[in-house]
Amino acid sequence: MKAIILLGAPGAGKGTLSESVKNATDFIHISTGDMLREAVKAGTPTGLEAKSFMDKGELVPDDVIMRIVEERLSQGGLDDKYMFDGFPRTLEQARLLDEAMTKAGGVISQVFLLEVPTPVIVSRLSGRRICKNCGAVYHITNIPPKVEGICDRCGGQLYQRPDDTEATVLNRLDVYQRQTASLIDFYEKKGVLVRINAGETPQEAAKEMLEQLA
Ligand code: AP5
Repeated sequence: MKAIILLGAPGAGKGTLSESVKNATDFIHISTGDMLREAVKAGTPTGLEAKSFMDKGELVPDDVIMRIVEERLSQGGLDDKYMFDGFPRTLEQARLLDEAMTKAGGVISQVFLLEVPTPVIVSRLSGRRICKNCGAVYHITNIPPKVEGICDRCGGQLYQRPDDTEATVLNRLDVYQRQTASLIDFYEKKGVLVRINAGETPQEAAKEMLEQLA
């Protein structure tokens, strides 16, 4: 088992970049944010537990996250290649992921840090729109749909994520600095950190990441 990680602040473009990399490679995309939103929508016990944290922009407890990730990994094969998006997000999650990978005989080969200036991030999140039906991600000015409010891919309606309001976005950025940014140092010391300039267009970020992908 092999895994790469996309690390970066909320709105850095992890989900958008994952789409391009998934289409160009055989990595399986695992987004803990998407998995949690599906659990909330389905009203499962995990979803009910996670919702109050997500609405405030706080992190969901480590034990809940590890349970859903380990359950997902247990469905895969030994030769699978995973691309984690938004996970790990605390040093404890990183340590537990290391343990799980070692147990499975796997390795975290590269951790891509998406670097984007904070004002760009705030504008990306406030303009983000998502398709209710297929989950495609747009931006009202950077990556607009052909028809306002309608998904190009499936014709579904676009909506704004409840945690993309200004107050919650600012809290998410603060949570990132307090609880997640220390992972940069953690993975740098392991020699697997790769910095990507993700402040330009999605195409440029994807090109840079694919060139660096070992
Ligand atoms: P999650 O869904 O992971 O949210 P996030 O990390 O806050 O990241 P986002 O999805 O907001 O942004 P992104 O980096 O994917 O950017 P995107 O590509 O959409 O987590 C949500 C919540 O779940 C958390 O707050 C937490 O409560 C919980 N959670 C999840 N994982 C957890 C974990 N491991 N532990 C604990 N709790 C967890 O792009 C953003 C916008 O910019 C879009 O509109 C896009 O179109 C646009 N855009 C993207 N790239 C570019 C570009 N290059 N140029 C111009 N525009 C761009």
